[in-house]
Formats: sequence, structure tokens, C-alpha cells
Amino acid sequence: MKIVLIGAGGREHALAVKIAECKGTEKLYIIPGNTGTKQVGENVQINQDDHELIIKFCLEHKIDLVVIGPEKPLIDGLADKLRNEGIKVFGPSKKAARIEGEKSFAKNLMKKSKIPTAAFEVFDKENYDEAISYLNKINYPTVIKADGIAAGKGVMIAEAFDDAKEALKECFINCSFGSAGDKIVIEEFMSGQEASIFAITDGTDFILLPAAQDHKRIFDGDKGKNTGGMGAYAPTPFVNDRDLSIIAKEIIEPTLNALREKGMPFIGCLYCGLMMTSSGPKVVEFNCRFGDPETQVILPLLEGNFVELLYSAASGKINKDAVKYNGGASVCIVAASGGYPDAFEKGFVIDGLENVSRNVSVYHAGCKELNGKILTNGGRVLNITSFTEKNNITDAKRMAYEALSKISFEGMQYRKDISDKALK
Ligand code: AMP
Ligand code: GLY
Repeated sequence: MKIVLIGAGGREHALAVKIAECKGTEKLYIIPGNTGTKQVGENVQINQDDHELIIKFCLEHKIDLVVIGPEKPLIDGLADKLRNEGIKVFGPSKKAARIEGEKSFAKNLMKKSKIPTAAFEVFDKENYDEAISYLNKINYPTVIKADGIAAGKGVMIAEAFDDAKEALKECFINCSFGSAGDKIVIEEFMSGQEASIFAITDGTDFILLPAAQDHKRIFDGDKGKNTGGMGAYAPTPFVNDRDLSIIAKEIIEPTLNALREKGMPFIGCLYCGLMMTSSGPKVVEFNCRFGDPETQVILPLLEGNFVELLYSAASGKINKDAVKYNGGASVCIVAASGGYPDAFEKGFVIDGLENVSRNVSVYHAGCKELNGKILTNGGRVLNITSFTEKNNITDAKRMAYEALSKISFEGMQYRKDISDKALK
């Protein structure tokens, strides 16, 4: 099978490794890929936004399956255009991708289908005064979210009315999130442990992959600003088998049904961000794609044929037995540029990659190559990922940090407490 993978991050490096090792993968191209993906496939220098060129490449190379990593090409409709040309795609249509692209769309769909999530109200820029009077009568903390995609920065937790008013100003008056903040969702604050669940689906049937826990804040102890994710581990003990069956029955199944009934079946990976509250799992958000860095820790836990899973889902009849959990554990630590998630410098040489033992994978994210050296080229630079055959997070954590200690670049920062919540 000839496969194209779209994307350039650590998630795509992990996907590329998994796809390349599957029986039946004859050729893997990554558009545009990165310094890591080129070790397992062929990088093709086409811009991810150049849909016409991507389609041309896929037709010319008789591609059997396209796997789309990031949300942007999905939200922009790349999957639809490829399908119109008869190419099989793992990834949702533009319409179905609204589940990530418009928070109000996701919230209204959940409300209508009685899917457990935080209570909420939606306000447009024109309804500033109404939003203020609503903020005057609710309980705090509360959560204010820009409706559109805001690079992970559009969620503000307000401890009191004044913070909430400030957040409103950011969206509606300062327009800090551009048009993504023209509409907002104000929602109830939920407490509990967070978990990420991936449902792999053909639009009707689905399987759930092992649950992971991300670490969104920049500093230890979940302090500081939100990031794209500073590390993850799987499986997380905060989601047990009973929770998984509740999540399948009360969240994933009705969401897929609702999307299908609206004429926008979701084919791909439905990523469900959950809060495990005292009254059960509730949805924090949906994403229309694999999570990053959760993918890096979930894929090593799958045995079987991952490509068969994706291909069967993309073909309309998922093979639910294609993969199963192998009983292991995995921990991923993100090494980030100094200053991230705010402004940071790049172009520093990364030392020590060759010293990492073979039982730990180092996925490349924001990296580039110059004169045979790997340099930093983004906020999240490397994903140091361990795997243990038994479900032993303690060992997996130790292995990942040991490997990390061999790697260095100027300004490197990372969290020292990845997976600690699982160990308490
Ligand atoms: P999101 O981009 O919607 O995933 O939100 C980013 C982060 O904000 C989440 O991972 C949570 O930590 C936090 N968050 C979002 N919504 C809520 C909520 N309703 N209650 C508590 N925390 C939330
Ligand atoms: N790790 C969070 C995300 O992929 O959105």
C-alpha cells in the first residue's frame, strides 16, 4: 500500500514510525514531514496548505491512503477534496471537522444529544452587554473560550467577575484571537483529572484506544500558561474499564450518531478531551484528529496492524480487531525551546541524540537540519518517549528522563513531573 501522511510535528513522526513498520506498507510519503519522518519514509516538500498540489501528487503516485495529522487541513476541507478524486482518506470532512473548529457547534451538538459536558452559554460580539450581565449572575471560577481555533490559547479560566470581564475584552474588544474570538462560549468550571481518549471510527462503528493524560501547562504542578502539551503518558489509571464503557455509550456513540444524522459522518480519529468528575466523565472538548503528544504514547501500546485499522475505517467498514492494547505503558516528555509558549529563539544545535539507548524513541517536532546537524526550529522540539512491556509507569518515567538527560540544547526546558499524577 502506498500511503501519504500529512503533517510535520512529533505526532507525525510517531505516526510515520508506526505506519512504516506495518506489514503491507509498501511506500510512505510525508508531506512535508520533518527531520524525524525522513528516517522512516520520504519527505515531499509540498506546503500543507497547497491542496491542489497534494491532490496532484496523490493521483500521480497512485496513493491508496492519505492520513491527515493536523487540524488545519481538515478544517480547510482537504479530506473532501481528496475523496472527490476517489482517494481514500483517514480524516474527517470539513463539515465534521467543525466539532473542533467551532466550540459552539460542538457544545450545541452535545446539548441536543444529552452528552455530559459543562453547562454553557454562547455569545456573539454584538451581545457584549448580555454577556456582561450573564457574567454578573454566574458562579466562579468560570471558563471563557474563543469559539474558533486560537492555537491553544483561546481558553481563559476566570476566578472572579473582573477576570471574566478582562477575558471578554480580549475576545471582543482587543480582538486578540482575530475572528476566532468574535463568538465566545462561557462554560461551567469542572474539576477532576483530565484524560484524552481517541475513538477510531468509520463514521458509525469505532474502537477506543488506551486513555492518555496530557500535561498542558508549561510548568511543573500544572502551573503557568497553557501549551500544546508538555508531555503525556498512557494508559492513565484515571480511566478504568467501567469509565471506558460509559465514554463509549454516553459520549462517543451519540456524538457519532448526531454527526451522521446531520449528514456529516465523522471518519478518522475523534479525540475526546475529558474531565473525570465526581459525577462521571464529561467532555471538555473534541478535536478532529490525533492529539499531540498523546499519539506518541498511545501508538507504542498497540499491537496488530495499525494501517489496516486506518485503511478499514477510511474504507467505510472499520476492522475493530486490527489492533489491540499490548499491556504496556509509555511516557513522553516534551523538550521545548526556552521561552515557549511565549517568544523563543531557534536555531540551536541539539546535542546527544546519538547517545539515547534504542529502547527509547525520540520523535522530532520543531527541528531542522543544517550541515548534517539537527537544530531547534520550533517551540516543542523533541518528544522523548519510553515504552515498557508491562504496564509500569514508574519504569517508563525513569527510562524517559534518563534518555532526556543525554540530550541538550541552549535554553532547553521540560517538565520534571510528567506522569507523577498516575504514581500518587
Ligand atoms: P480546551 O482547549 O477546550 O481543551 O481547554 C484547554 C484546557 O483548559 C483544558 O485542557 C482544561 O485544562 C481547561 N478547561 C477547559 N474547559 C474547562 C472547564 N469547563 N472546566 C475546567 N477546565 C477547563
Ligand atoms: N495535546 C492536546 C492536543 O493535541 O490538542
